Amino acid sequence: MSPEIFDQLCALIHRHSRIYLGPNKITLLSSRLSKRRRELGFEDWDGYLDWLLAQGADEIEILIDLVSTNHTHFFREAVQFEILQSELLDQLLSRSPSARRALRCWSAGCSSGEEAFTLAITLAEYAEQKQPDLRWQIEATDISHRALKKAQKAIYEIERLGLPHPGLLKKYFQKGTGPYDGFCKVKPELQHKVQFQRMNLFADSYTVAMPQHLVFCRNVLIYFELASQTQLVQRLHDALEPGGYLIAGHSDSLLRIKHSLLSLGNGIYQRPGSP
Ligand SMILES: C[S@@+](CC[C@H](N)C(=O)[O-])C[C@H]1O[C@@H](n2cnc3c(N)ncnc32)[C@H](O)[C@@H]1O
Repeated sequence: MSPEIFDQLCALIHRHSRIYLGPNKITLLSSRLSKRRRELGFEDWDGYLDWLLAQGADEIEILIDLVSTNHTHFFREAVQFEILQSELLDQLLSRSPSARRALRCWSAGCSSGEEAFTLAITLAEYAEQKQPDLRWQIEATDISHRALKKAQKAIYEIERLGLPHPGLLKKYFQKGTGPYDGFCKVKPELQHKVQFQRMNLFADSYTVAMPQHLVFCRNVLIYFELASQTQLVQRLHDALEPGGYLIAGHSDSLLRIKHSLLSLGNGIYQRPGSP
């Protein structure tokens, strides 16, 4: 891939997703796109780029799918779910009348669903232990069709679940048999609590309910450059009810970003003010 083609592809990717690929990512990009280029029958990158530009939305979506990094797992950065269950939910519910009526949570950049279902398990456990009549819902969004398809199936490899307590497997998942041996599916009761939809975090407007009480946006900011990170953090701030929480990934430092959230440690931020 020539530097000129690389630059044009990067500009296209950035325009449609804000994903930023630095100048040293040429090998990464060509390895992620080579298979698709060959499948389409193009010998060189010029042909692929011309065709891509002529195709429009569908092929651009495939491009973004191939470029996005969807790595995730259940109970990733588990300490955040522990703090949620032991402190944040009590605080939210004691402060916010609207959270008491129905707690609204959003997994922004949810990839294949593990984060949203981890959150669902955490909320279900909290409700069982402390507040059986708690009403809650989770919206989960991502730009990647491929990741969302997996999320909607809600089928995961048992060996890779890494649940903190073995009892959670039986409680929230159905074990597969036959061709699904070694896999499990999230139980329908839990699956129905999570609504997945495709949404670009840089779309003109958001199609999730507002305001949210809890927004998870973890390991997503790192794919954007500073100006886009700043813009996104401001929009997530605005999406929160005052007093609501933004949970960022440990690798998503907000240090260089100008924002007005309160930092509570462990990647947890709070929108100032009262509901
Ligand atoms: C590494 S995954 C993080 C998954 C999960 N939040 C976690 O921490 O395990 C990053 C996700 O961000 C998504 N993403 C990247 N750019 C996006 C955008 N502009 N709008 C929505 N999602 C985006 C990718 O498709 C990918 O699934």
